Amino acid sequence: MSVTEQPPPHPGPGPNPDDAAAADAAVAQLRDRISADSLTTRRDYLRIVATVSGGLAIGGVGVAAGILHRHGDSESLPEPKKVTDQLGPGQSVAFRFPGEDDRALAVRLADGSLVGYSAVCTHLACGVLWRKERGPDGELYCPCHEGVFDARTGEVTAGPPPRPLPRILLTEQADGSVWAVATARSGEQAKDALCRQFGDDHPLESASVGCPGAGRAGAPERRPT
Ligand code: FES
Repeated sequence: MSVTEQPPPHPGPGPNPDDAAAADAAVAQLRDRISADSLTTRRDYLRIVATVSGGLAIGGVGVAAGILHRHGDSESLPEPKKVTDQLGPGQSVAFRFPGEDDRALAVRLADGSLVGYSAVCTHLACGVLWRKERGPDGELYCPCHEGVFDARTGEVTAGPPPRPLPRILLTEQADGSVWAVATARSGEQAKDALCRQFGDDHPLESASVGCPGAGRAGAPERRPT
């Protein structure tokens, strides 16, 4: 799957079509401006828009106690991180994002969809694994208390986890490398997460994803003639 392609429709809970379309349009617009080398710079990073291949949600009971670090807390975009050089269908890879203490998981589903999640269970923070043999998409499984999450959406499907897994926004470059570029808060759509983190400081990027109010902040003042 390239950055300009969207995964096929999936029944049940899934991405907001508007959200995915906005991200897709932005990727198409910016694709030629992004190179692997440029990803390490802050400026070029802000030109990156993630491919969104599922709904977004994040949360954690442990976080409420102030004990656990929670994905998606940041008000600013993290630095992009290369997850892997290649990720084929039926493969997964563990990585850390956005910080070195933040366990995450990228999965290439059998149909080519690319999804990324926090690998920290929203129940009591055990590590989450992908069990590919469980159904067409496999499942995200927490062995501590038999928690199960939908691999395509991150939604809880069984066990005690109170909230879906936080989504990690991933993008795939032309060379096949997979990059993590952003996270989202609990229940937050990808577009909303990006718009929040772009804020008023990045009007071009905001406009590229269709953020509410985009274009006004950076537009020159019009004086009556
Ligand atoms: Fe994951 Fe309890 S810590 S189900």
